[in-house]
Amino acid sequence: MFNSLSGRLLILTTIFVMIAEVLIFVPSIARFREDYLTNRLERAQIASLALLADDMIDSDLENELLENAGVFNVVLRRDQVRQLMLSSEMPQPIAATYDMRENNAVVLIRDALSRLVSPQNEVIRVMGAPVRDAGLLIEITMETAPLRMAMIDYGIRILILSAVISIITAVLLFIAIRALLLKPIKRVVGHMQNYAAAPEDARRIITPTASVTELREAEDALQKLETDLTQALRQKDRLAQLGSAVSKISHDLRNILTSAQLFTDRIEMSEDPTVKRMAPKLVGSITRAVHLCESTLAFGKAEEPSPTLTMVQLRDLADEVIEGEILAIGDFELDISCDVPLMMAVRADPEQLYRVIANLVRNARQAIVATGQPGEICLAAFEDEDAWWISISDTGPGLPLKAREFLFTPFQGGARKGGSGLGLAISAELIRGHGGTLELTETGDNGTRFTICLPKGDGTMPARTGAAVA
Ligand SMILES: Nc1ncnc2c1ncn2[C@@H]1O[C@H](COP(=O)(O)OP(=O)(O)OP(=O)(O)O)[C@@H](O)[C@H]1O
Ligand SMILES: [Mg+2]
Repeated sequence: MFNSLSGRLLILTTIFVMIAEVLIFVPSIARFREDYLTNRLERAQIASLALLADDMIDSDLENELLENAGVFNVVLRRDQVRQLMLSSEMPQPIAATYDMRENNAVVLIRDALSRLVSPQNEVIRVMGAPVRDAGLLIEITMETAPLRMAMIDYGIRILILSAVISIITAVLLFIAIRALLLKPIKRVVGHMQNYAAAPEDARRIITPTASVTELREAEDALQKLETDLTQALRQKDRLAQLGSAVSKISHDLRNILTSAQLFTDRIEMSEDPTVKRMAPKLVGSITRAVHLCESTLAFGKAEEPSPTLTMVQLRDLADEVIEGEILAIGDFELDISCDVPLMMAVRADPEQLYRVIANLVRNARQAIVATGQPGEICLAAFEDEDAWWISISDTGPGLPLKAREFLFTPFQGGARKGGSGLGLAISAELIRGHGGTLELTETGDNGTRFTICLPKGDGTMPARTGAAVA
């Protein structure tokens, strides 16, 4: 209850109305005291008029008149000379004098509050202007206890009234908030749940209806979000269908091409010189086409399995990659060096790490061979507190613009004739599976460097240190 919007509003409203009532209470209690004293002055003035009829009244009547007016003494000055006076015995000396003719709001409030907080009964003198210009000045003495009692009475009535008002206000506000805010909010929440159950269904997208501006804005934003999401999901769906169609086509195409390969083998044996000249090119093209189909099929298979992490002797793994590459180089002038510390062990899936490093070294080799110039490839590794860093650098021509633009994007990053543009994308995915990163740290006329970072900890990536890049 207290955590709900309506509950909190209910409490806050009550508090605020109470505060407002207190602000009203202070001036009204001052006003009440002023009225009370003025009323006493008037009653005393009426009592004193009895003297006008009869100059000498007996003391019994005098006491009765004073008692009725609720005062001890009255002095009514009619002009400079004449004055009327009623008097009886005062129980104690006068404690204070209040002149009602020169009151301002601050003085009235101060006097009223100090009267409320001082409980002892005092005798005070009050002066004021007589009503109907019946004289110059009227002055009375009276007790404060009845005044204070009346003030307390009045205060309690105000407090009860404010409590009632605040409860009524709070309840009304509660009902209004429910209708204006809570119901629409609940509607939106219910709608969101409904949408989440089947986000591809465009019929479930919200239609904004709220009349409150802020809610309407939220609904509009939600509608846009849902529309975009539904569209993206459909797009993804179409791409998935397209992907599976491509897989099927690749599969059949590969079979067709494999039979074509068999025929071209025969053609190579032909005696015709033109055919003899063209045949190897035909074989090469068909082989590349088969390779493309196979890579597409391999990529189309479900995601790479998650790595099985063990401690791998990096040096051994690197040597194995290099041996394979040296075979492929043949007698081309290309040097591959290994700068991996002898006993360095990294935590990785050996099979996957092998594929990544082999991919990167092969790319470097292919790039250098394509230039026809001699070159070098260097495999290096380094470890710090947080991670293992492996770099593969070459003195090749650098990545072509297209490869840089679509770096790590399957199929699109390939700029090499006969390549399928998958090697880097797959490598990056495998390293991501290890919680690490594969980055292109340098490329240009002087060569290229890729850096692999494998974190040692729980997968939070360490900041790259200069040593690893150097
Ligand atoms: N070390 C490098 N030096 C120069 N260019 C490179 C290097 N590594 C990659 N490239 C460029 O980046 C492109 C993408 O490489 P990637 O390995 O993803 O695909 P690929 O080698 O073309 O095909 P495959 O899927 O058979 O590996 C390459 O075609 C090549 O142009
Ligand atoms: Mg490659």
